[in-house]
Amino acid sequence: MKTSLRIFLFILSLLAIILTIYTFKYYPVRADLLDILIFIALTLVLEAFPVEIPGRQIALSMGFIMTYAGILLFGAPFGILVNGLASISPEEFNFKRHHAKNFIFNRANLVICAGLSGLLYEHLGGLNLEFGWRYSLVALFVALIYWLINVTLVSLVVAIDKGRAFLGTWVYHISNMSIITYLLHFFLSLVIAQSYKLLGPVVMPIYIVPIFIARYLIILLGEVNKTYDRAISSLIKLLGIFDGYTSGHSLRVAQLSEDIAREMGFSESRIEKIRNAAMLHDLGKIGLPQSLLNKPDTLTYEEWDQIYRHPIVGEDISREISRFKEVPVWIRHHHERYNGTGYPDGLRGESIPVESRIIACADTFDAMTTDRPYSNRKSIEEAKAELLNVSGRQLDPDIVNALLRVLEKDSSLYLAGSKIKEKDE
Ligand SMILES: [Fe+2]
Repeated sequence: MKTSLRIFLFILSLLAIILTIYTFKYYPVRADLLDILIFIALTLVLEAFPVEIPGRQIALSMGFIMTYAGILLFGAPFGILVNGLASISPEEFNFKRHHAKNFIFNRANLVICAGLSGLLYEHLGGLNLEFGWRYSLVALFVALIYWLINVTLVSLVVAIDKGRAFLGTWVYHISNMSIITYLLHFFLSLVIAQSYKLLGPVVMPIYIVPIFIARYLIILLGEVNKTYDRAISSLIKLLGIFDGYTSGHSLRVAQLSEDIAREMGFSESRIEKIRNAAMLHDLGKIGLPQSLLNKPDTLTYEEWDQIYRHPIVGEDISREISRFKEVPVWIRHHHERYNGTGYPDGLRGESIPVESRIIACADTFDAMTTDRPYSNRKSIEEAKAELLNVSGRQLDPDIVNALLRVLEKDSSLYLAGSKIKEKDE
């Protein structure tokens, strides 16, 4: 373990211990033993089954629902007690897979989140407020503070452990977090806390069932998405049978489009849609004869017409199969040019969706660096020079710049024969 990480974990643990002693010394635990046992038991059950949010890299533990309901009902010491003791998932004891540093960080992090937000809640008078708008706003404000402390501490430990810049890691975690899911969890905490206050422990089983149903639905959604991604991969492979070029081409364009979008600071959910559109961008070529796709000499008017139509056919097919409603339109415009001379609609500049402009850049780069029947592949340096040459006419100059920055990091990743594979493989 790095020395800097050791020092950080030591300071964090020390803070957690001081906070715990301070809170228990000056703030009474207002709950009785039965409340404590019920909350600890339910939090343990929920923590044992974390849910991976589809398309995100963060597993959201549902224990937050119970912990936060506990804070709302009984204040800071109760929050520390439940979060520090109960929100331990069985996985955390698997020291072969998870290093002890994870265990120490998680405990300290949860105690600090619950302790600080609990104290803030008590100081804002949350425990004595009647249920209403004012109370809900205080509860929401404190939940957001809890979230901010959590994201900041997680970003700090990742930045120190992996040697990354703190700010970039913080922004990454913020954009990866599903605020909707968080708000939903907050809302459930609020409902549980209020009904517990009114009706007592008897109310708990009523909530556990819907929580597990919600959890099951989220898992089901994840499975549906995986199946869908596999179907898309099969379709792309099928396209590859018609035209050996297109299958690898789609994967490389998808990877490059994703990385350009990330470089431009797009959110993860938007990046996922762009990747999907890039994978499917040439789907409209299905059914076009191989002789036409690989024809080295000049095309006839009729042949051009067929090529011209592939973005429109792609738009049509993807309307049926893409799970994102924006994707078909982006596919339609992936051959538009920045100066308005592209097809099928001759859109220009900003009127072309930015996602289509990104795919066009990635598509152009891949065409340049792959052997085609009508042209030999260019070297990376030649391709970069050519990109700068067409920048502002065929391609959006800002996106060309983002692409050049991506290539600066590791251009070999995007060349034909690279190891780019489907995400779920
Ligand atoms: Fe195309």
